[in-house]
Amino acid sequence: MFKTLTAMPADPILGLLTQYRQDNHSQKIDLGVGVYKDPAGHTPILECVKTAEKMRTETETTKVYIGPTGSESFNQLMSELAFGQSHTALLADRIRTVSTPGGTGALRVAAEFIKSCNPNAVIWVSDPTWANHTGLFEAAGLTVKTYPYYDYDTKTLKFDQMVDALKQINKDDVVLLHACCHNPSGMDLTQSQWDEVISITAQQGFTPLIDMAYQGFGDGVDEDAYGVRQMAAAVEEMILCSSCSKNFGLYRERIGACTIVADNSQAANVAFSVLLYVVRCIYSMPPAHGAALVETILGNPELKQAWLNELTVMRDRINGNRQMLVSKLIENGVEQDFSFIAKQKGMFSFLGINPEQVETLKQQHSIYMVGSSRMSIAGISEANVDYLAKSIATIL
Ligand code: LMR
Repeated sequence: MFKTLTAMPADPILGLLTQYRQDNHSQKIDLGVGVYKDPAGHTPILECVKTAEKMRTETETTKVYIGPTGSESFNQLMSELAFGQSHTALLADRIRTVSTPGGTGALRVAAEFIKSCNPNAVIWVSDPTWANHTGLFEAAGLTVKTYPYYDYDTKTLKFDQMVDALKQINKDDVVLLHACCHNPSGMDLTQSQWDEVISITAQQGFTPLIDMAYQGFGDGVDEDAYGVRQMAAAVEEMILCSSCSKNFGLYRERIGACTIVADNSQAANVAFSVLLYVVRCIYSMPPAHGAALVETILGNPELKQAWLNELTVMRDRINGNRQMLVSKLIENGVEQDFSFIAKQKGMFSFLGINPEQVETLKQQHSIYMVGSSRMSIAGISEANVDYLAKSIATIL
């Protein structure tokens, strides 16, 4: 049976990691996968996570099955983090959350849940979007279409075109929105643009699915949840997928959450039962370790503050890297305007070069970024920015 198979190409993002690790160049730079790196190029375990891990080892008493819901306490704390403690939807008991294996697990659960609601649903994603969104939704049997989002020429949002497209989407479909730190463009909706998108969503009646993989990496934990909170207050139903990979640095622990907001408490119970059935049929129940760490941190005021402080350090460093690259490009005689990089948010921006230039950067300078020229800004450091800027100047 296996003989019928044709080999798949390496994943456009994860494949870069393997190539980077095999490269012996002393000045190689990894701007591929979106992971935070400290000035030494290391992805550290957060101090608050280390403390939580010690506390858990000392107090954990069993490894018995946790059930498809995952940890109730983690689910509650994650809902409060996303929506804010006193959100009307929480107070009205309209929200249900399951712990999932990472943000990708949350998206796959959401996809299967959407299929249970409407097997013919079209899911509309921004053009461009995270490379894995399309494959993931199609694997669940959904049809994926795109709405205009990023203008590669002007490095701005195609907001008017986005609005026009959203106004054509009907109530049986789903629209995927990035809560903050748009991956791959770094271009986020402003608050007033969110307000407009939310009012179109309510008017058209389609279901919003918000992907929040970078809460805290844009402007702050509450600021980054603006769209999520306003949307949940304005529409009858929505889905939220969250990830703890980046903001808690728990990448390999695979922990995230899939949340549904229903019209009322009873409808939420029905939807939740379907969500649990979906989980049981895919992976039965989520891993518990990452959730245990997050709930330990969020449930302890001192540890939560320590986490917020560490998150601020990560956010500030990435923003500093943005500014630093723009300055170094100017210092290296680059006349093209790259100031947009300093204005964008989160882990990523497109450098805006073509795939051949991306390949040259890789082959001749050992600088790795996704073929679309998406750079993970966290991979820039004081130590490598000169080499990076010089290399970019050369290929330009
Ligand atoms: C990325 O976009 O680089 C991250 O979300 C990691 C991944 O799984 O692709």
